[in-house]
Parts: sequence; structure tokens; C-alpha cells
Amino acid sequence: MRLALLGCGTVGSEVVRLLHTQSADLAARIGAPLKIVGIAVRRIGRDRGELPVDPAVFTTDPLDLVKRDDVDVVIECVGGIEPARGWLVEALRAGKSVVTANKALLAEDGGTLHDAAAEGGGDLYYEAAVAGAIPLLRPLRESLHGDRITRVTGIVNGTTNFILSAMDATGAGFAEALEEATDLGYAEADPTADVEGFDAAAKAAILASLAFHTRVGAADVHREGITEVTAADVISAKAMGCTIKLLCIAARGVAADGRETVGVRVHPAMIPLTHPLASVGDAFNAVFVEAEAAGQLMFYGRGAGGAPTASAVLGDVVAVSRNRLAGVRAASESAYADLPVRPMGEALTRYHISLDVTDRPGVLAAVAGVFARHDVSIATVRQGSGGGGVAGRGEDADLVIVTHVAPDTALAATVRALRGLDTVRSVASVLRVEGGA
Ligand code: NDP
Ligand code: HSE
Repeated sequence: MRLALLGCGTVGSEVVRLLHTQSADLAARIGAPLKIVGIAVRRIGRDRGELPVDPAVFTTDPLDLVKRDDVDVVIECVGGIEPARGWLVEALRAGKSVVTANKALLAEDGGTLHDAAAEGGGDLYYEAAVAGAIPLLRPLRESLHGDRITRVTGIVNGTTNFILSAMDATGAGFAEALEEATDLGYAEADPTADVEGFDAAAKAAILASLAFHTRVGAADVHREGITEVTAADVISAKAMGCTIKLLCIAARGVAADGRETVGVRVHPAMIPLTHPLASVGDAFNAVFVEAEAAGQLMFYGRGAGGAPTASAVLGDVVAVSRNRLAGVRAASESAYADLPVRPMGEALTRYHISLDVTDRPGVLAAVAGVFARHDVSIATVRQGSGGGGVAGRGEDADLVIVTHVAPDTALAATVRALRGLDTVRSVASVLRVEGGA
């Protein structure tokens, strides 16, 4: 089985190492040896340490490589939309099988890749694209195909989980924790994709597509990152017996007209320390799947890093190689349900709102009135002396309000109205609360 590898960075170089160290076992499992016939990179002369591969296989022309007749399987570990899309479409249409870790491309235009695979007759596998080493996509697209998945909740970005865990455990600053995550090979080439939630949104789209048999793209996902989460939010969460995580939530729902819908969102949220996802630290990922017959399932493991991701890539290489040798291909994309995606405004959630207010009679009543007018029920209120005021003289106060569940649109309108109150000096932070705290 002749392999072309596109990209030899954090993930690609580990794929090369694993292919070498496991070569005998992999050949026995597949029934044929695996051979790397080409590796495409951007800079041939880059120092890649000790790589167990003939330097002559390196090229800077990925398109030429994927077109070669002596290539059976293309493994893509470059990332980004273009030029990766062009290479993979070319490979798939030519009948090659493709294994990719590129969630950004799958979420942006997975349909084109699936169509090209169907046209060419090869396989398209992408286990590494979501949650690194965790076997998650195959359970969704195979093991759970007899069931009806109702909700998927997860931590699917290792970099942001690493940052939030460090902020929570050691009080580390955001920038310092991001630098460490980047050094450890967790972050994307542009870490904005991690901290602004684009990476998690892409993974959420892939998960929702598989779970609900519907094409969900990155643009369908409501996305917020973690750049606005402050040390004060982390302390406030602790005071409530919670921790802050960047969550991906994909769930079935029913629209006002009775039609079934799916909602997909990524945002930071407070979750109670008793929630199974609360103890997921470092760059680990975990995904909680709820299905009608199976009940609750939890998938946990390393969500980022070269070797864990290469493990998932290699699992796919074995699967597509076996298929090719047997002359079969995996089942095509399942998107028959074609459910409409509901807007974020209809999501039912809870808010934790911190306000800096003037501490005088009637302020609490005015604030409570805003919630009442928007039909949002308050669950708890906590008041402390304000950071800018003189303790004991009652000039400023901090108000922390947690709501009951309400539509996101009503909660957002409440926050806008609070910003307009004379007595509210500022809305210091707004975070969603998930998981029944
Ligand atoms: P890196 O930035 O470490 O590696 C990218 C590789 O692609 C490099 O070898 C680079 O070449 C090569 N490359 C970039 N542009 C081109 C081009 N135009 N032509 C040829 N080669 C090119 O990325 P990662 O290994 O971290 O990520 C690769 C993919 O895996 C991405 O899709 C990412 O989202 C995904 N992924 C990453 C995970 C991780 O933990 N890092 C986990 C799960 C998925 P050169 O070496 O010469 O610069
Ligand atoms: N940058 C990604 C993360 C890599 O931090 O989760 C794994 O997909």
C-alpha cells in the first residue's frame, strides 16, 4: 500500500515515526506492507530531527504527488482550506483513499470531499480531525447507527482546555498558558483558531453532521471563544462551585412549527464541579453523547499533540488500506435527515451576569425589573462592595446574578437593557451556565 503524506509538522512527523516503528504489525494487520512514496512539505530544508525516512521522498509539490499513479492513499496533515481542498479533491476523484486531520476543511466544505470520494470510489476517513486520539467519529458513524442520538456535549479543543485549566488551577495568565500550549504542539498554526473558538466550531459541525445525519457546516455553528474570560470570572465560577470550560453543544430540538431541528454552539460556560466534564484538565478532550437507547456515553482522552493525533491517523490508514485490498469502500456520508439548523436565539440556556452598580435604594429593584420585563427568571443574586467604591460607605456594589433557563435571545436582550440602566456602571461579564448547577 503506497502512501503519500502531505505535511510533516507536529502530526505528520509522528505519522512517519509510527509508520516506521509499527511497520511489521501494521503490515500483518492490513495484509500488505505500507510504504511512504512521497512527503510534501513547504520547506524541504527544514530541520525535522531524526526522521526514519529516505530524504529523497520529500517534495514541495503536493498536487503533483497526489496525482502520481504509484500512490494509493493520501494522508493530509497540512491544514487550512486551500490549497488542501484542491489536492484532496484531485486525489479522491482519481480514486485514491484519503485520510485527513483537517477539521477546518471538513467543516467548511466536507460535502465536496464526500462527493469527490463517491465519484472516485475511494474512502474518506478523518478520525483525527475531532478530539485527537479519541475514537469518536467511528462510534458515531458506525456503532451508534442503530440508535438515535439526541445530544453531544464536549470539550473538543485541547489548547483552550489547557489554558482554562491553568487559569483555574494556578492562576496562570492567558498569554503565558497559550504560549505553553503552542510549545507543546497543541495549538493550530494560527492559535486564533483555538482561542476564538473556530477550531472547536469546526469540530462541532463535524460531530453534529455525523450525529444527526445532516450536513452542518462551520457557518451554522454559533461560536464564541475564550479571549474574554477573565481571572475574575474564574474566581466567580469557583465561588459558585463551578469551573469554566469551552463547550461544544449539539442537540436536537423542535421548532415552533413542530419541525425537528438541530442547534450547534460553541462558547465558554460555567459547569458545576460535579459535572463529568469538569474534571477534564490539561489538553485532554471529552465528549458526552446521549442517545435514546444507549443512554449516556463518555469518550475521553488526549485531544491534541503529535503522537495522539498520529494514532488516530494510523487507525484510519489501516482501515482504508484494508478496504482497498478487499476492493470495498466504507459507507458513504449519511446526510438523509437534512434537519434545519435553529438559530442561537432559540437555545435554552442560563446566564451568569456580573454587574458594577451604584449602591443606592431601588437599584436592585430596577435591575430585577429588567429581568422581569424580558421574562427571564432570576435563580440567585449575590452582592458585594464594588471594586471602585469605598467599602462600607455603599457607593458602588458588585451584583452577580444567575438566571434560570431562558431562550438565549431573551437573555441577550436582558443584558442589552441592563447596559442602558443609569445605575449600572458596567456589565463586567456574561457567561452561560450549563449542566444544572
Ligand atoms: P504543522 O504546522 O505542525 O505542520 C504543517 C505541515 O504542513 C508542515 O510540514 C508544513 O511544511 C506543511 N505545509 C504547510 N503548507 C504547505 C504547502 N502549501 N505545501 C506543502 N506543505 C505545506 O501542523 P500540525 O501538524 O499541527 O497540523 C496538521 C493538521 O492536523 C491540521 O489540519 C491540524 O488542524 C490537524 N490537527 C492537529 C493537531 C495537533 O495537535 N497539532 C490535532 C488534530 C488535528 P513545513 O514543515 O515545510 O513547514
Ligand atoms: N489545536 C487543536 C486543539 C488541535 O488544541 O485541540 C487538536 O485538534
